Amino acid sequence: MWDRTSRLFDTALLFSLLSVSYSFDTLKQTETLANGQTLVSLNSDFELGFFNRSTSTTKWYIGIWYTVSPEIVVWVANHENPLNDSSSTLSISKGTLVLIDSLQNIIWSSSVNLSKPKILDPILKLHDSGNLVLKDQNNDDILWQSFDYPSNTFLLGMKIGKDLTTGFEWYMSSWKSSDDPSKGNYYYKMNTIGQPEMVLWDGDRIKFKTGAWVGVRFSGLPDMKTYTNTLQFIVVSTSKEVNFSIEANKGVPNLPLSRIVLYETGVIKCMVWGQDKKNWYEFSSWPNDMCDNYDKCGPFGTCNSIDVPICKCLPGFHPKSPIEWSMRNFSGGCERKTPLNCQGHSNGFKLVKSVKLPDTENAMVDASIIIEECKRRCSLNCSCLAYSPSDISGGGSGCIMWGHNLIDIKYIEGGQDLYLKLDKSDLDATGMKKMQVIIGIIVMPTVLLLALLTVYCICLRQRRRKTACADLGIDKRNYNESGSLHNTELPIFDLETVIAATANFSDANKLGHGGFGIVYKGVLSGGEEIAVKRLSKDSSQGLNEFMNEVMLIAKLQHRNLVRLLGCCIQRSERMLIYEFMPNKSLDFFIFDKVRGELLNWRTRLEIITGISRGMLYLHQDSRFNIIHRDLKAANILLDGEMTPKISDFGLARSFERDQNEIDTGRVVGTRGYMSPEYAMKGKISVKSDVYSFGVLLLEIISGKRNQGNHDLLAYAWELRQDGRIRQLVDEAIDSSTTVASDLVRFVHVGLLCVQECADDRPTMSTVVSMLSNEGMTLPEPKIPVLSSKSQSFSSPIELTLTGIEGR
Ligand SMILES: *[C@@H]1O[C@H](CO)[C@@H](O)[C@H](O)[C@H]1NC(C)=O
Ligand SMILES: *[C@@H]1O[C@H](CO)[C@@H](O)[C@H](O)[C@H]1NC(C)=O
Ligand SMILES: *[C@@H]1O[C@H](CO)[C@@H](O)[C@H](O)[C@H]1NC(C)=O
Ligand SMILES: *[C@@H]1O[C@H](CO)[C@@H](O)[C@H](O)[C@H]1NC(C)=O
Ligand SMILES: *[C@@H]1O[C@H](CO)[C@@H](O)[C@H](O)[C@H]1NC(C)=O
Ligand SMILES: *[C@@H]1O[C@H](CO)[C@@H](O)[C@H](O)[C@H]1NC(C)=O
Repeated sequence: MWDRTSRLFDTALLFSLLSVSYSFDTLKQTETLANGQTLVSLNSDFELGFFNRSTSTTKWYIGIWYTVSPEIVVWVANHENPLNDSSSTLSISKGTLVLIDSLQNIIWSSSVNLSKPKILDPILKLHDSGNLVLKDQNNDDILWQSFDYPSNTFLLGMKIGKDLTTGFEWYMSSWKSSDDPSKGNYYYKMNTIGQPEMVLWDGDRIKFKTGAWVGVRFSGLPDMKTYTNTLQFIVVSTSKEVNFSIEANKGVPNLPLSRIVLYETGVIKCMVWGQDKKNWYEFSSWPNDMCDNYDKCGPFGTCNSIDVPICKCLPGFHPKSPIEWSMRNFSGGCERKTPLNCQGHSNGFKLVKSVKLPDTENAMVDASIIIEECKRRCSLNCSCLAYSPSDISGGGSGCIMWGHNLIDIKYIEGGQDLYLKLDKSDLDATGMKKMQVIIGIIVMPTVLLLALLTVYCICLRQRRRKTACADLGIDKRNYNESGSLHNTELPIFDLETVIAATANFSDANKLGHGGFGIVYKGVLSGGEEIAVKRLSKDSSQGLNEFMNEVMLIAKLQHRNLVRLLGCCIQRSERMLIYEFMPNKSLDFFIFDKVRGELLNWRTRLEIITGISRGMLYLHQDSRFNIIHRDLKAANILLDGEMTPKISDFGLARSFERDQNEIDTGRVVGTRGYMSPEYAMKGKISVKSDVYSFGVLLLEIISGKRNQGNHDLLAYAWELRQDGRIRQLVDEAIDSSTTVASDLVRFVHVGLLCVQECADDRPTMSTVVSMLSNEGMTLPEPKIPVLSSKSQSFSSPIELTLTGIEGR
């Protein structure tokens, strides 16, 4: 208390010295706040003033931001009504806060509390919590406060909830976009029906529910446990008001600045300010996986993101529509194997462990009874289907009873216990005899069903063959019914044509050094643009062998491989003619600060996924089992739509015939991308490509080369270990567009690919499914090869490499 008074005194002194007309954190009735002026809270954490965001038009808003990080706006007054000019002012008029433009129009005003008597001496103050409060100095009554009208940000001291008498709701709403604070699609509100829980709305559709409040946290957010040392989560539910708030635990010194933000993508994140690094880092985020989609598995279904498929039925239940279920349409849910018979004692309870409790909207809650009483009531009440304690603190007490469909159940680590009512025949302790009968009953229809399904799938496959091929990116023109490739006719270009197209291989047409030779741009007489790779004359391969290899390369056709248009063999020249890629190669973008901005988060993920598909095709699906050996950013070309196209595939193989890299010491590859076993022993396998892919993945995400003094693998590993994985993301990417769950998964896969031991690395087909399947559990990576180790092998190789080519 003393401390505060003295600070106030200091500030007052300062004011009188500077003769400023208003104090830093307050605005009086006679004063106005103009564009360029701000109020600053006493602790200097928050600042109120005018700000603009969009670059194309001038739109001014009044809002509150962090002084240490002014781009983070936590509250906006006129979010739907931006000001067109910068000469507006904020002032107090008749007990409300008004924003007036240069033509004296009221653009925005704070709501009026009609129940207030005459206001004599109103004053506006920006509090240390970030709350902007308008009150009457004479009686301390709060007339209006910004905390009652949250924007997309929740701060300590705010609440989310509902006044049950007036219907007034405190809730968060997303912005339309990162530079448009008007209301977007998402809302985060308190659900007051049933046990209190938070609901994330996407328009009028429920996207996610946190699960019932169970005394210390929400049932579906086990992460909340990790905060309990510093923060206390509070849910109050009375007949007048239901609300959720967060308080710092008593005695916790200096909490860092933190905020919970509902982003325009529908993701909620808890962000914490790191004082040392002067940036925000993500502490946690939700919803997290596919199982967080509300009612994913239908009635009596349970969702487990690590299962394939992710939905299963509760014990004692089976899919209501097995065909739909097998087609991954889970909306029909499950039904009882044996209907409940309410008479007598034919029912029992099955314990379902570690779940997010079913939706409680239609459940009965009685916090006053103990769990034994809950069980007794549920077993006596025919319409009760399941029960669970409503408060898990202190061993569990209170009672939730469900009488309707159980929906939105998810398996989570550290979840709750649910007691499910089943017919005794469906409980575990059933006699063998009964089991056999049941098996008989189940097996017969299952066999029939399987047969039916097989027929159905075959039909489906035939019908879908075309689309399936398109999905795989295989060019239909070279794909016949039996799955083999037609004998491709590869055009032979004559030397004169190529010389004319490239202006006699002029330097002006040079696109760059690729592996195995120089690449030139060319234009055929018809106007078609081509890329010509003039192979270096190292290869002593015979003509027939060369042609065989080229025919092989020509047969490889995939959306993510550069297409070979033809070749040219004359005198000692050997050239490959490719389709021309207008956007050059990936290294041109990702390692450049400015051009890097052209590849946003989504595009980068798509590029990574595309490369993985192309590699899978080379390794497996093409039936030729090609090992690329020199996968790197410079070998990934980009077409007009930024689709990645792997180049130089197959060439390694064609060069391999006469050059045994172990004998000659010539290793085809590029430092930074070479797996340890390849660099040290010349040992090559599909897993060395997987290693290069992992390096490439981390480079695409971070925008940093794994080269020179920078050990990207060690860096990524450390950030992941420290939970600072977000820092890995290239600064050229707009951070609000990165999706945490994708980031975590992709980096995880990247680290698995660069494991020191080849056996620990996944195959390309596993990589493809890991990248595309959000629900898959991935093995924990071990520490990757770190620089201290790689240095020991990089130096001898370096010599031979620079000997091959300067790339
Ligand atoms: C935004 O405000 C700054 C001054 O704060 C000004 O320099 C800039 O031009 C404004 N932007 C637009 C689009 O008006
Ligand atoms: C700003 O200008 C637009 C178009 O000129 C107009 O529709 C809008 O009402 C103006 N807004 C304010 C707050 O003056
Ligand atoms: C309005 O004022 C009354 C009386 O002071 C107070 O109880 C109530 O909470 C206020 N309402 C709002 C929405 O601020
Ligand atoms: C939540 O509601 C209760 C009961 O009305 C009230 O006493 C409490 O102050 C509210 N919590 C917050 C943070 O406003
Ligand atoms: C999914 O299954 C339900 C019945 O369980 C059916 O009504 C619905 O049409 C199916 N949806 C699709 C997309 O097939
Ligand atoms: C039985 O349970 C249902 C559903 O939970 C509830 O609506 C009903 O009031 C209960 N009946 C009794 C007698 O408790």
